[in-house]
Amino acid sequence: RRGLFAGAGAAGAVGLVAGGLFGAGATRNSSEPDPARELMLAAGGPAEGLVPALGTPTPAHVHVVAVDLTADTPSAVAAQARAVLEEWHDRAGELHESGLASVVEGAPTQGLRPASLGITLGLGPSLLERAGLEDRRPEALADPPAFDTDRLDPALCGGDLMLHVGAEDPVVVGSAVRHLLGRVREHTRVRWSLPGFQRSAAAAEDPSATPRNLMGQIDGTVNPSPGEAVFSPQVLASHTDPAQAWMDSGTYVVVRRIRMLLDDWFDLSKGERERVVGRRLDDGAPLGGDREEDLPDLSARDADGEPVIPADAHIRLAGSESTMGARMLRRGFNYDLGLDADGEPDAGLLFTAWQGDPNTGFTAVQRRLDEGGDALNRYVRHEGSAVFAVPPLRDDEPFVSYGLWT
Ligand code: HEM
Repeated sequence: RRGLFAGAGAAGAVGLVAGGLFGAGATRNSSEPDPARELMLAAGGPAEGLVPALGTPTPAHVHVVAVDLTADTPSAVAAQARAVLEEWHDRAGELHESGLASVVEGAPTQGLRPASLGITLGLGPSLLERAGLEDRRPEALADPPAFDTDRLDPALCGGDLMLHVGAEDPVVVGSAVRHLLGRVREHTRVRWSLPGFQRSAAAAEDPSATPRNLMGQIDGTVNPSPGEAVFSPQVLASHTDPAQAWMDSGTYVVVRRIRMLLDDWFDLSKGERERVVGRRLDDGAPLGGDREEDLPDLSARDADGEPVIPADAHIRLAGSESTMGARMLRRGFNYDLGLDADGEPDAGLLFTAWQGDPNTGFTAVQRRLDEGGDALNRYVRHEGSAVFAVPPLRDDEPFVSYGLWT
């Protein structure tokens, strides 16, 4: 079961993913039990989900790390990138096969189950530029444009390579990250990193329910599901140009660090908070609807003739009706780094969006949220941003993205 890497072509799965790039819990019908998660928890591992699985759940813990390569000439950058990707590929395979405790004596993971460890690697636009491979860079692999509402800190943006490690346990995640970074220390400098989490299955009254973010909203209801015909065209990339074939059937991930202004948010009344998003806080139903999975009625008016879902509500602007079908697979994680020097919560959403082309996915929706005056903008601050190509792993290639280097 060398399933650490997603990617098996037939299923159209995405590269270098173990234990789940795609969350089964992230579908519209969240009231249904999630057999993948139950099976995984019962078995102490990801069941068949170590194959990249278009149906494995979003992990409870994740750590996303962006690194830059230390070399400064194109040929040296390319050589380093190859060496790092090859090393990560092999070490990740080892972690999956036998776990960190059998590779590192005295590892912190002794006594722990595999916990659905999943490792995903990505390549940033800066890497191709620095390695002299601009002619191999698909247009989709470009930093999102600047938005008026951005408050980005350059130190929290970009990166030549991404390491995305997920698992059901934070010790498993953190130890794998340190191990993999340690193996490439001579070639890399960490640019930014952010650990994220969701509520644990053990604490959830209903582990199959869509999780909540730190604002208290049920987040992840409307997402393409692997069973839908639109899933592959929206989430997986299609490249027919031979120069970009290395990314055919891969995916592009946009990562945003979005701080939540939680004190201001919780100063609002419950009704005000519900109108900001356009959904109820207790059960996630769209305003005017009955259940989480109901379609929002955007034309409904109240007794005063006002829209039930306000004109600037997040779901009205983000919904596919106003973005003409732009969709992506959203996987959000909470982050909580305690309080900053002003005593404000340094917490928010580690937002990841996976799509075949960010120009028609993330960027199209974010433009609408930005220009359309999303009511949520008053309570969030985009502080970090990056995009990475996540190539497919092909059985006949020795490491992920191999085609780019040959
Ligand atoms: C829907 C919260 C940022 C795109 C939602 C929902 C919530 C939510 C609670 C409704 C439930 C659901 O369908 O998941 C947030 C928060 C954000 C944030 C707290 C920032 C901290 C973003 C960003 C994007 C985005 C940056 C993309 C650029 C969407 C989309 C939907 C959605 C496409 C589904 C809309 C629909 O079709 O009904 N978000 N969101 N969100 N959000 Fe966000």
